[in-house]
Amino acid sequence: MGRVIIINGSPRAPKSNSKAYSEIFRRYYEGNIDIFNITKNNHKDICLKLEEYTDILFVFPLYADGLPVTLLNFLKYLETNPPKNKPIINVIINCGFIEPEQNTVCIDMIKLFCKENEYIFGSVLSIGSGEAILNTPFKVMIRWKMKKLAKAIQNHKNEKLSVTMPLTKKMFIRASTSCWINYGKRNGITKEEMASMKIEQ
Ligand SMILES: Cc1cc2nc3c(=O)[nH]c(=O)nc-3n(C[C@H](O)[C@H](O)[C@H](O)COP(=O)(O)O)c2cc1C
Repeated sequence: MGRVIIINGSPRAPKSNSKAYSEIFRRYYEGNIDIFNITKNNHKDICLKLEEYTDILFVFPLYADGLPVTLLNFLKYLETNPPKNKPIINVIINCGFIEPEQNTVCIDMIKLFCKENEYIFGSVLSIGSGEAILNTPFKVMIRWKMKKLAKAIQNHKNEKLSVTMPLTKKMFIRASTSCWINYGKRNGITKEEMASMKIEQ
């Protein structure tokens, strides 16, 4: 039976969408699963465990069209501290924009890491509208794809899956704009403040 280590690479791992996606995956995978959030201080602990697993599943968000620094730092450590038996590397990546293709370059970064460090790249689920989809009826689409991903990892098949909300870009922009404006309102921040650098202060 397979054994998967889920490694959450979100900088806000304990409250992240990546956490929610990991939990959904856990429901459908029929082997053993352990979940770890990457922190500044646990790279060594995680790397020492990797040998016990058949598969690694990195779950993380797209940040500025690339890997979040949390995951990048972990990969740098892993590069110099590899396990003797290398698990297969799989990925769930989610981005805020509606197009899952936004994630393509970032997935290629993980593939390059695998190539350069002699890991097998297994399966990937690329999620668009990742911040929103779980709060809509379309979350059922996430479940379908997650089931497929879990099966692929169990059977060591290479699947390239993607999913997003079936909306036009115009509808998505309208819905997400009003969602963020209301979110700001609830926190006492205006649309103008959100659009200015003051948001950083
Ligand atoms: C600093 C930052 C950079 C981001 N960059 C992108 C981006 O380049 N493209 C995109 O589609 N979403 C981007 N997002 C949105 C995240 O990918 C999205 O909110 C995701 O659901 C966060 O996942 P998490 O909760 O697992 O961290 C960014 C979010 C933040 C906070």
